[in-house]
Amino acid sequence: MTVAEAWNGPLGQHWAAHPDRYNAMLDGFDAALFDAAAVADGDRVVDIGCGSGLTTRMAALRAPAGRVTGVDISEPLVGRARALTDDAQFPHVTYRLGDAQSCAFEPGGYDLAISRGGVMFFADPVAAFANIAGALRPGGRLVFLCPQPAQPDGEERKALGLLASLLGRDHTTESAVATAMASLSEPERIHEVLGAAGFTDIEVTGVSADTCWGKDAADAVGFFVSRAPGLAVSDATRAAMTSALLPYETPRGVMLRAGVWVVAARTP
Ligand SMILES: C[S@@+](CC[C@H](N)C(=O)[O-])C[C@H]1O[C@@H](n2cnc3c(N)ncnc32)[C@H](O)[C@@H]1O
Repeated sequence: MTVAEAWNGPLGQHWAAHPDRYNAMLDGFDAALFDAAAVADGDRVVDIGCGSGLTTRMAALRAPAGRVTGVDISEPLVGRARALTDDAQFPHVTYRLGDAQSCAFEPGGYDLAISRGGVMFFADPVAAFANIAGALRPGGRLVFLCPQPAQPDGEERKALGLLASLLGRDHTTESAVATAMASLSEPERIHEVLGAAGFTDIEVTGVSADTCWGKDAADAVGFFVSRAPGLAVSDATRAAMTSALLPYETPRGVMLRAGVWVVAARTP
């Protein structure tokens, strides 16, 4: 299954069915994204790979006199984003179904492009970022988050790897999506791709945060298992998976520390 097929199939449907879960997983990184993005009122913002649109709406709240476009390749997620967006509160938000690598943006039509983890999946990253650069005015800014390389002893990698091995699956290499997730994890690669796409003033800064996987270990296991539709899991396996997550239970839920890059760049 290609990456685009996955986002239009089971993976996109899962994200569309569980926006609150995925937002809880990622919200520890939102402050870093929006601090770096420094959205100003009046800004014209495009949110690349907007998913169910939370960051699109967060940008829109910061730019009530601007306009914000969420772009995503996933039909289920664009549908979900539209359903979650109150037109009266967000008259300046629109969503667009399309591949950000190739969709025709109005040249120079945006001041700022943001993305919370939606820019690692392009078939041709240089072409995609060049297309995004073309959508920005001269001096326009790009700010996105993407995963840091998974550290073998990092909490998220260790815990999810253990869950996957208990399920008899290889969490790290099981799909084209997993491979794509890591496509920008090396800062040298980020500089290479953005430089080739015409961006300048490229800055890559590491940020860590807790990602929430569920209210308790059993809940987190239920969520993890639900990501593999149709997978039969025995009670014994489920119990072993739950035990594996017990060390990560906190009053705030099952929290796994993870790291992302905050990447900022601008067009000349
Ligand atoms: C990890 S999810 C993040 C979603 C959203 N930014 C969030 O934080 O909830 C990645 C998103 O990128 C989208 N995506 C993948 N490839 C894309 C492409 N070529 N053009 C536009 N969106 C894409 C997926 O459909 C998915 O919604």
